[in-house]
Amino acid sequence: MATKTLGIILNGATGRICRTQHIRGGLAQIRDEGGLPVGDDVIMPRLLLAGRNEQRLAEAGAEFGIEEWTTDLDSALADPDFPVFFDAAATHLRLDTLNRAIDAGKHIYTEKPIAPSVAQGLELMARADAAGLRHGAVEDKLFLPGFRKLSHLVEQGFFGRVVGFRLEFGWWVFDGIEAESQRPSWNYQKAGGGGLLSDMHPHWRYVIEGILGPIAQVASTAWTAQPERQDEDGKRYDVDVEDATATLLELESGARGAILSSWARRVRGDDLVTFQIDGTEGSAVAGLRKCWIQSGADTPRIEGFNMGPEAATMDFSMDYDAQWTEVPEIAPYKNPYRFGWEGFIPHVVAGDPYAHDLSAGIRDVQLAEACMRSSDTRTWVDMAPVT
Ligand SMILES: NC(=O)c1ccc[n+]([C@@H]2O[C@H](COP(=O)([O-])OP(=O)(O)OC[C@H]3O[C@@H](n4cnc5c(N)ncnc54)[C@H](O)[C@@H]3O)[C@@H](O)[C@H]2O)c1
Repeated sequence: MATKTLGIILNGATGRICRTQHIRGGLAQIRDEGGLPVGDDVIMPRLLLAGRNEQRLAEAGAEFGIEEWTTDLDSALADPDFPVFFDAAATHLRLDTLNRAIDAGKHIYTEKPIAPSVAQGLELMARADAAGLRHGAVEDKLFLPGFRKLSHLVEQGFFGRVVGFRLEFGWWVFDGIEAESQRPSWNYQKAGGGGLLSDMHPHWRYVIEGILGPIAQVASTAWTAQPERQDEDGKRYDVDVEDATATLLELESGARGAILSSWARRVRGDDLVTFQIDGTEGSAVAGLRKCWIQSGADTPRIEGFNMGPEAATMDFSMDYDAQWTEVPEIAPYKNPYRFGWEGFIPHVVAGDPYAHDLSAGIRDVQLAEACMRSSDTRTWVDMAPVT
């Protein structure tokens, strides 16, 4: 086996997601394990960190043993030793940065959302395709252990006919006034590319379609639960994007379901995100890591929903959680972002098929856009694939 080097520029390298997930959980591990086997070769990632702040870049370099970093993106893009460009910088800069990378002849891999709109995403992909460049979009949540277990159950035919589903997500994000916010302020400002729909619904698109199949149409409402927040510099600002949404979905299979996403919700239940699927043969609920099932045979006969004089028939003693069985681990844990790199690198170097290309990323944006339109017009919006 020959070891070959693949130069990868990581833009926004010191940001939360690039540093903690893509480098620490993915690329640094692949490098430290001696590279990624692809066909008869081993591909060793050579990483170039790009960002704005020299000190933070130097710190990130020191943490991961990466000696190459720069604040000069143009010089990085001009360097032929780095044929791959990855973007995990702030969302509002993405389209421009990816276009610059395409102009420089780089294969592009990007965080979500891949573009502000479907139309802009299609243009971006057309430019990359015309230049003969490979492209990929991060779709990590499908590789969460809990959701992998759900996919597995679908493949086994566990559910029978799926009749409904419910995805609930979110937690309380402090407004920066009452207590320091746990998320960067750009998430709550239109100019920064913020908003819950464009931030989270790209994920829910590939999770729902990846597990249950195509979405036919959606009806959504989006609102601002916390209208005022305080940023990292202690400055108050008006939130001009949605931070809470409720969406109804109809799948092509006929199944109906809902997504409830909110940055203004207090967590009670199994996890920060839960995805419940109900079928004629059984149901399952998955969180980030765990998954529980209740088969048709295990389904309790619930009869008590009576108030008043018949209160004796209420199921006071019923422990509903205890009626579910946890699904065992199907594989050792692997960082979900690492799956993306292990698919994208062989796609770049050997032309292996890769399902998570820009067309998938565009479809992710399509769901966010459809929900926004539905909320604005108060109508159902069609989700037929775009071309
Ligand atoms: N796949 C996922 O689960 C996931 C999770 C979180 C974030 N993301 C995406 O990753 C991206 C970054 O999110 P984050 O949470 O890491 O944010 P962050 O604010 O921690 O990081 C953003 C990075 O962009 C850089 N940046 C900001 N403004 C810049 C400018 N004007 N010029 C150059 N660089 C600039 C920052 O220095 C920082 O390195 C976003 O697009 C977000 O949607 C994806």
